[in-house]
Amino acid sequence: MNSTDKIFSIEATHLTKSYGKKKVVAIDDVSFRVNTGEIFGLIGPDGAGKTTIIRILTTLILADKGTAAVDGQDVVKDYKKIRGSVGYMPGRFSLYQDLTVEENLNLFATVFNTTIEENYDVVKDIYGQIEPFKDRRAGKLSGGMKQKLALSCALIHKPSVLFLDEPTTGVDPVSRKEFWGILKNLKQQGITILVSTPYMDEANLCDRIALINKGRLLKIDTPQNIILQFGKILWAIHGRNMPKILTDLRLNNHINTSFAFGDTHHVTLKDEHYSPIELENYLTEKGHEEISIRPVQAGIEDCFMDIGVENLTEGVHENN
Ligand SMILES: Nc1ncnc2c1ncn2[C@@H]1O[C@H](COP(=O)(O)OP(=O)(O)OP(=O)(O)O)[C@@H](O)[C@H]1O
Ligand SMILES: [Mg+2]
Repeated sequence: MNSTDKIFSIEATHLTKSYGKKKVVAIDDVSFRVNTGEIFGLIGPDGAGKTTIIRILTTLILADKGTAAVDGQDVVKDYKKIRGSVGYMPGRFSLYQDLTVEENLNLFATVFNTTIEENYDVVKDIYGQIEPFKDRRAGKLSGGMKQKLALSCALIHKPSVLFLDEPTTGVDPVSRKEFWGILKNLKQQGITILVSTPYMDEANLCDRIALINKGRLLKIDTPQNIILQFGKILWAIHGRNMPKILTDLRLNNHINTSFAFGDTHHVTLKDEHYSPIELENYLTEKGHEEISIRPVQAGIEDCFMDIGVENLTEGVHENN
């Protein structure tokens, strides 16, 4: 096999899909490839098209245009094979609320012609944590426990590719962190993971990310490369009245982007001749006190803001 014949775990080519009579465009000319064993993140705000992409790749809906393959199998022609070899954790309603923890997992195992015993090694790290509650109805589990059960159900047939649609939405920060630890372990077992999230901080935890907004892919790269391409000076601003400072920053025509980031506001300037001293003077004239302005290293959130993707969820971040 030469390098051009490489089989990617996921290959999406010019996927386009609209819904309903009004033809609401959900995704528009989306192409990307995921290497085997990668954690690939689809990062985008509400309505960006994340679920639509995942549903096409898991063969649940058809694209209007374009092609896609998972594990070298075509999503239209070979949909049965794909359904047997991928795991899918939908955003909501994947569990049977009236069935117990064990009954849910059993059901998923049976659907895929296997048993919990046969593939226990695949799920033991995750399922082991909720097994003490195996007789509890799924509807009575906490958010973090539901998430672990849903992941166990998606894994019980030993899939080669795992699709996770916003697995951490609505989950507390500690459980989110733990969940990403679990994903790392699954990656080490050779499972390819495509995960969607509206949380910007989770972008850093992926090997590569595709940034999606309004149905279009804006960027595909490693988080590190996306940060390297930032190419502007970023200023962190602090002062006494932070909400009012943000309002005043947004009234200043020299400012390109400004948003609240942890304890500070992150700002880029349109005009490189407008100095931070002038900015400080501007804020002082507006009556602000104890202003500090210092350059900081851009993070992935700043890159998103810079290309105009708004409404992403901040998540938790360490202050820099
Ligand atoms: N069944 C449907 N009928 C009509 N429009 C739909 C349907 N499903 C999705 N859409 C629209 O397609 C676009 C993309 O939706 P999609 O669910 O793929 O986005 P998403 O990134 O998963 O968003 P969310 O954060 O809401 O999960 C949105 O504008 C949405 O309103
Ligand atoms: Mg969605």
